[in-house]
Amino acid sequence: MADSTGARSESDLPIEPVYDASALEGFDPDVKLGAPGRYPFTRGVYPSMYTGRPWTMRQYAGFGTAKESNERYHQLVKAGTGGLSVAFDLPTQMGYDSDEPIAHGEVGKVGVAIDSLDDMRTLFDGLPLDTISTSMTINAPGSTLLLLYQLVAEEQGVPGDKLTGTIQNDVLKEYIARGTYIYPPRESLRLIADIFAYCHKEMPRWNTISISGYHMAEAGATPVQEIAFTIANAIEYVRAAEAAGLHVDDFAPRLSFFFVARTTLLEEVAKFRAARRIWAKIMKEQFGAQNPKSMMLRFHTQTAGVQLTAQQPEVNLVRVALQGLGAVLGGTQSLHTNSFDEAIALPTEKAARLALRTQQVIAYETDVTKTVDPFAGSYVVESMTDDIEEAALALIQRVEDLGGAVAAIEQGFQKSEIERSAYRVQLEIDSGERTVVGVNRFTLDQEERYDPLRVDPTIEADQRARLEALRADRDQAVVDAALGRLKDAARGTDNLLYPMKEALAARATGGEVAHALREVWGVYQPRETF
Ligand code: 3HC
Repeated sequence: MADSTGARSESDLPIEPVYDASALEGFDPDVKLGAPGRYPFTRGVYPSMYTGRPWTMRQYAGFGTAKESNERYHQLVKAGTGGLSVAFDLPTQMGYDSDEPIAHGEVGKVGVAIDSLDDMRTLFDGLPLDTISTSMTINAPGSTLLLLYQLVAEEQGVPGDKLTGTIQNDVLKEYIARGTYIYPPRESLRLIADIFAYCHKEMPRWNTISISGYHMAEAGATPVQEIAFTIANAIEYVRAAEAAGLHVDDFAPRLSFFFVARTTLLEEVAKFRAARRIWAKIMKEQFGAQNPKSMMLRFHTQTAGVQLTAQQPEVNLVRVALQGLGAVLGGTQSLHTNSFDEAIALPTEKAARLALRTQQVIAYETDVTKTVDPFAGSYVVESMTDDIEEAALALIQRVEDLGGAVAAIEQGFQKSEIERSAYRVQLEIDSGERTVVGVNRFTLDQEERYDPLRVDPTIEADQRARLEALRADRDQAVVDAALGRLKDAARGTDNLLYPMKEALAARATGGEVAHALREVWGVYQPRETF
């Protein structure tokens, strides 16, 4: 192999100017790759991959009231999107109702405001829950939104075992990178294990968690850190479920993952392939999984939001196309392509449609869906896959040596590692060592004007009025009794989702359910790390 020119990858691993056959010396495809859809799944989780079915084009969307978001979902389904992906506003994500003081100014802003069964019914009005798969980006209150979805489906006559979709439900990454946690880690893990058990029995086709590296990547994690910290979190969830008495093959097939796709396409393809191989080995060797589906790392990808620029926003169309291509070459099961204007504001309808069209061009105008894992056997991608696998395994071991993901979180380990990486990247941009087209090179003297989407400020008042009507209309005694049973279950060990479903069916609000659990469990107080 030629001497290194010192080029480094996003993970700070060497990139050789030329790779040759020596890169694959001793490389045994049967051990390193396996056939597509076969252990260790390096080449992809299904034998036919996109030659059988393209990935799900699943555009993250939601803003304002349930009615407005419902209209956007109908537009997306009409434009050809394969699955829904619901964005909730911050009050919903944090377990507050729209009429609580803490919610003021955030109602319907970064996603849709959902306070009750009435709102959920409006959100999915006219959408066939027996055939559409719905992802919901909701974490600490994940069980609340899952049960509201099931209640609306029951009203449509759709039983739980027909429902397909995902709740993100990954609170560990919230402690590390995003911050929409509520309860302390131990209670959060208990609730997540209850969701695994509930779905195994009541909603067997539902993906119970989307273990996310995306937000850590957006906070600055390198590709190696992204998959290592994500898989370390996944190991913690598997342990929590086993500690709750679940057998690994009863819940592992419904674990799913969520990663970013950066513009550095080669390293991203290698990252996805390494992640599949690492996860397969951990589930087989460390947890003794027997069912191949327990070893399959199925994932959703979103193109890198942090790589979008507000300057010359149309250039983002090119970035997103390259990032989306990398996710497809890496074998993603589901994909969200960012809209080119998202560094400025929520996407306009046209920008959202262009983002979807980008996926459709990749799927239907290129030839990358005609063959599985086209990079297999590539000198550079196989070398990078090995290098990333080795570095990620070492980092996972560091987390394990600290006592596992929760212990490491409490020591601030992942957060400080990610902040260090973010600082390095920012220095490179500021020095010009790292090019950001339109920002520190190839700039315009005068940026062109752009009219972003504006969310109607009256939605907060509308949402408050709807809540007032709901509270006046429901049977408060029934709600109070159901919330009381939920608190009793939180003090004990019974599965929380059954009393929670009763309360929501009686039209308790999301905030009331979250407050009932806050009352019993308290809230997480992060330890400041300097
Ligand atoms: N051969 C055989 N079967 C195939 C196949 C093939 N080639 N391709 C697909 N299938 C089957 C699958 O087995 C599956 O059947 P099953 O449900 O009975 O197992 C069905 O077809 C659907 O295929 P997938 O499960 O692969 O695709 P989905 O799209 O349904 O699921 C997922 C993908 C990753 C497993 C799922 O968890 C998912 O949809 N995740 C999405 C998560 C998401 O959208 N997150 C948004 C986050 S946004 C956010 O966090 C905020 C922002 O700030 C970033």
